Amino acid sequence: MERIEQHPILSIETAETIHITVDGRVLEARAGDTIAAALLANGIRTFRHTAKLHEPRGLFCGIGQCTDCIMEVDGRPNVRTCVTRVRDGMIIRTQQGNGGLRHEAL
Ligand code: FES
Repeated sequence: MERIEQHPILSIETAETIHITVDGRVLEARAGDTIAAALLANGIRTFRHTAKLHEPRGLFCGIGQCTDCIMEVDGRPNVRTCVTRVRDGMIIRTQQGNGGLRHEAL
């Protein structure tokens, strides 16, 4: 995991280690992390691919405004991972396009 372990001004609190599954891989996360923070700590930068051009997207605004970080979480598409906390046993998938929504339904 890539994390800041020491900081000259801020204290780094330790948190319980939990496990999440991302695209079939079991990864460690820390309780209280957002999904996006846990993914970045595990070296994952691509969270979804766009619907038309299949371009990779990842963390952009980090405050729940742009939707670049959406993923499928526990079977639910379009979850903003930068503002959603991890939970032990959570199953996360890289979202492809609209995340299961059919174009006819849009
Ligand atoms: S990075 Fe913009 S909504 Fe999550």
